[in-house]
Amino acid sequence: MKKQINITLNGRRMRLEVPAHRLLLDLLRDEIALTGTKEGCGTGDCGACTVLLNGKPVNSCLILSGELHGADIVTIEGLKIGPEFHPVQKAFIQDGGAQCGYCTPGMLMMSKALLDENLNPTEEDIRFALSGNLCRCTGYAKIIQAVQDAAAELRARNV
Ligand code: FES
Ligand code: FES
Repeated sequence: MKKQINITLNGRRMRLEVPAHRLLLDLLRDEIALTGTKEGCGTGDCGACTVLLNGKPVNSCLILSGELHGADIVTIEGLKIGPEFHPVQKAFIQDGGAQCGYCTPGMLMMSKALLDENLNPTEEDIRFALSGNLCRCTGYAKIIQAVQDAAAELRARNV
């Protein structure tokens, strides 16, 4: 069954006709051609597909398109601030927080969600926030460092 939905995606309003049971992940990747959001497990266990839905991080592999009417969605393609990378993107590059990069979009979106709520996270806060995002490459230390550095940069901008 198809359903009409109005959404805001990365700041742009869109009207879509979607199969109600289409997963948000598939809608983004296969119908809107935003392929930055990755599929890892497809079952809500790896965090690779994380996007922000009404400001909160969600696994897009678990969200049905039919539930999205009125939703505000931000994907990795919408993380930049104007032409500039978001501080968390810059910090991941600077600190080597990405290796193969497959987990990185999800890590970045979850990190942004944390920093939106807490500009002074402890290491424990960061580990807890990212505990649902799996990375097979980095050993996590450089990711934690990157989030700490992004937090410091954002605090400096806010003073
Ligand atoms: S692909 Fe969605 S949580 Fe793994
Ligand atoms: S950088 Fe390869 S899975 Fe995280």
